[in-house]
Amino acid sequence: MSETPTSIKNHTTVEAENELGRLVIVSNREPYTIKYHGQDICLEKTPGGLVSALDPVLKERNGLWICWEGAPKKVAEFDDVSVLDEDIDWESLELPYQIQSVALSATEINHYYYGYANTRIWPLFHYFVSRCNFFDERDWPSYLSANQKFANVVVEHTSDSDWVWVQDYHLLLVPEMIREQAANRRIAFFLHIPFPAVEVFKVLPRRDIILRGLLGSDLIGLHVPEYVEYFLDAVERLLPASEVQIDRVRACILYQGRTIQVKAFPISIDFQQIETLASSEEIQTKTKQLKERYGNQKIGLSIDRLDYSKGILENLESIRVFFEKYPTYKKRFCFIQIAAPTRTEVPEYQKMKEEIDQAVGRINGALAEDNWIPIHYFYRSFPMDDVLPYFMLADVAMVTPLRDGMNLVAKEYCAAKTDLNGVLLLSEFTGAASEMKEAMLINPFYIEHVADTLHEALHLPAMIREDKMHALRENIRQHDIHYWVNSFMDAFQYAISHR
Ligand code: G6P
Repeated sequence: MSETPTSIKNHTTVEAENELGRLVIVSNREPYTIKYHGQDICLEKTPGGLVSALDPVLKERNGLWICWEGAPKKVAEFDDVSVLDEDIDWESLELPYQIQSVALSATEINHYYYGYANTRIWPLFHYFVSRCNFFDERDWPSYLSANQKFANVVVEHTSDSDWVWVQDYHLLLVPEMIREQAANRRIAFFLHIPFPAVEVFKVLPRRDIILRGLLGSDLIGLHVPEYVEYFLDAVERLLPASEVQIDRVRACILYQGRTIQVKAFPISIDFQQIETLASSEEIQTKTKQLKERYGNQKIGLSIDRLDYSKGILENLESIRVFFEKYPTYKKRFCFIQIAAPTRTEVPEYQKMKEEIDQAVGRINGALAEDNWIPIHYFYRSFPMDDVLPYFMLADVAMVTPLRDGMNLVAKEYCAAKTDLNGVLLLSEFTGAASEMKEAMLINPFYIEHVADTLHEALHLPAMIREDKMHALRENIRQHDIHYWVNSFMDAFQYAISHR
């Protein structure tokens, strides 16, 4: 088990990749969304780390993506649903690779996605035990049936020479469900959210079923070594010793006569793509216009999905305290909050949106002066082209989640800072904090400390600021998304040859 994993990096042509077998991604979220531009229907890449990481790989390998039937649902947001649904010529949409959707009923979507995945697992794995709703009896059966449907589609559309890579917390049971029907399938799993400490994880009813579901895999990937430890702890403490054997040194588990590798793979971004885009004339012009609009003030920036795990409310309070402690910054500093709508049908998200609206109103109402407001707040999704000028404008990026599996915004901000002129404030409760050592780490629950660190960031001597940003950027450049995918696929091959 000590041999180096065999590498697939040199096999760059599609033919060579295909000799190794197809890559099959299985995720809840679809990689493309159907959008309207006037009369024309077109495909838009779904925003988010998962899709931006895996889309280029599938394009290169000409693989298969299995996902929920999200695309037709999007069409339903437009007026004449039935006509549009029937009339769409799916072939003409020129999908970049094969996409196979899994049809879920409305009840399943409600109770598997909104219910079990997003009001139980999501809050619990992010340490929000009190936000978990364990009481709707329909959630678990729907989670089971939806996972079973995904597994069935995988079994039907793949063979033992394919590389099946299951993604994230919506599909924790899928590896075992595939294995039950196809014992020799090559199966890997990656969790895009934190794996919590065992004292938190063990709150989850049927936690043993969830763990066994994951143990259907040959390789289990988590973002950072800490989550690997927590996962091994959970298996060790919550499954009977007669069932599993854990090898901490080799980070693997012996289960049902198979060896399962468990390893950390910190997800990253397409550094080169962002750097190139940031240097383009179009983005430079947009940035210049933005700078003119905001004048000579220093700028703080936060961009995230509007999710309670992101610490938006706490950070707004830090901004209020900042102006209270350092009033000379009025008119000399302003904060831009961009919050992208997400899971808007979940009551916790609706409530959080109201609280944020109110907090922005309260703080601006109390502090605004003629021709100046302290907080500029946008509640909408910004594509990368529109986000980049904000990254380039911002003197300080405040990435303040209360808990986050990784956080790619922190990495995107650094990639966009080609002039090295920016400081990253980063919550110590993100996976990114374990890699991005040169960031100014903050505890987002300690409001006054965040305000003081923001003040310190605005005063950082240029040389230190540039050194820090240079080191952060070089680390991301070397450990970019291609590195992530390659190291995962290397480990997947290794796991298969040692299972
Ligand atoms: C997180 C999850 C992803 C998810 C994304 C957006 O990053 O790890 O799996 O796709 O949030 O959330 P949504 O519910 O819109 O898919």
